[in-house]
Amino acid sequence: MVFRLVGYDLPYMQATLEKIIHFSTQKGFVFPSSQIYGGFAATYDFGPVGVLLKKNLEAAWRYWNVTSRTDMVEIEGAIFMHPKTWEASGHIGGFSDLLVEDLVSHRRFRADHLIEDAGVMENAGSLTPEQVDETIATHNIKSPDGNAVSKAKRFNLLVKTHLGPVEDESSLVYLKGESCQNIYLDYKATQMVTRRKLPFGIAQIGKAFRNEITVKQFLFRTREFEQMDVQYFVKPAEADAQYEAWKANRWDFYTKFLGISEENVRWRQHEQDERAFYAQDAWDVEYRFGEIGFKEVEGVHHRGSYDLDQHSKFSGEDLSYFDSETNERYVPYIVECSGGFNRLFLLTLFEFYREEEVTTAKGEKETRIVMALPYHLAPMKIALLPLMKKDGLSEKAWEIYEGLRKQGISADYDESGSIGKRYRRQDEVGTSWCVTVDYDTLETGTVTLRHRDSMEQIGDGGRIRIEDIGTYLSKEAFGK
Ligand code: GAP
Repeated sequence: MVFRLVGYDLPYMQATLEKIIHFSTQKGFVFPSSQIYGGFAATYDFGPVGVLLKKNLEAAWRYWNVTSRTDMVEIEGAIFMHPKTWEASGHIGGFSDLLVEDLVSHRRFRADHLIEDAGVMENAGSLTPEQVDETIATHNIKSPDGNAVSKAKRFNLLVKTHLGPVEDESSLVYLKGESCQNIYLDYKATQMVTRRKLPFGIAQIGKAFRNEITVKQFLFRTREFEQMDVQYFVKPAEADAQYEAWKANRWDFYTKFLGISEENVRWRQHEQDERAFYAQDAWDVEYRFGEIGFKEVEGVHHRGSYDLDQHSKFSGEDLSYFDSETNERYVPYIVECSGGFNRLFLLTLFEFYREEEVTTAKGEKETRIVMALPYHLAPMKIALLPLMKKDGLSEKAWEIYEGLRKQGISADYDESGSIGKRYRRQDEVGTSWCVTVDYDTLETGTVTLRHRDSMEQIGDGGRIRIEDIGTYLSKEAFGK
């Protein structure tokens, strides 16, 4: 697929899932989990640059959704919750996928994925078991192993475990199937301690776990992931207008704030029979993930009073709200924006990855890979590169490096290989600036400061004073 990189006047580039997997695992954005044991299906670790990008993405999300607003607060809930939570939420009864079993290998597959992969329809998620069986029979769909499959059966996605000294029904607990449930359970306490009036929202970045049967496409579908949730509590009469306002907000978050190209983002409304059991209306924000095409990154759900009603009923706690302006008591409606962190991370890699043909100092053509991340997302803002390892250059570069890190600036140091190779290494992980410490540095106290995208050196005669490095960085940090 063709990408245009936002904010840079550059040619169209190509990013594919295969390239992103290779690139991100080689450069330390992502590691397959438990690598030395041969890996563990669909679980990933964030590597050294990945974790920096993750923190920056979380900070951007938090700024947009919480700290820049006056109507939002944030909580961080536990992973273990009272098992009744999942009964009340409807996940024990209704959170399931339809599976079919290969009659020879006995491997199980998601029925909707088999049907979609066979090219019969685009969204098979809303089919009933009977419709699945009929579609599979009509189109003679086989398992990926080439064998006939069983009739479709429901399979619950909640991940179960036991807590306490006895492993029986009484110690059964579930890992969070959707992260937002803490917010509903803490809603009343949060509203009271923050003295909020409706409308207001509670945000959370939290883990979720699903026993997904088909795990493919790298970070896209995993069994453990983080959700970035906004749960916005509103008067029932204002819910439709708030829902529209949040949809507009999400569009701006991706396209204006994160700078994702509009041609790579789109909306998709869920069909009525495709919606989750709690949703009155549901729209997905979808991103074009290279050759896999448009896929969901965030769900915007009109949840009505479903969640607070259910938890009131199961817990016995009155979760209604007294509106002092109208002297009415009602159960607030909820507008939910629930994004998956892994998908946001993957989207960022796709969007800002680029390949460029460049000519080296020796006149040879080579491909430069650049992670053209905006400054606020770049894992490292600056890298210190001594021209040589001798004559005190390493020591000087190291001294500057230490000084910048003490100021809280995410900086790297690299003295191995040619200077050209070191520039490329930093370009690949998105480092915004590279400083070269050379013999002039020792004499004049100046360095070269090279920008990642233009590859140009800034300052008088291409040099700036060591003490001015921080000023250049802060100018970029504030977008001046
Ligand atoms: N609380 C609402 C909720 O959980 P969802 O549409 O099931 O809604 C929200 O999930 C988001 O979580 C999705 O848009 C997606 O980004 C992410 N997500 C869901 N399942 C995932 C999985 N198995 N792997 C990675 N991300 C996932």
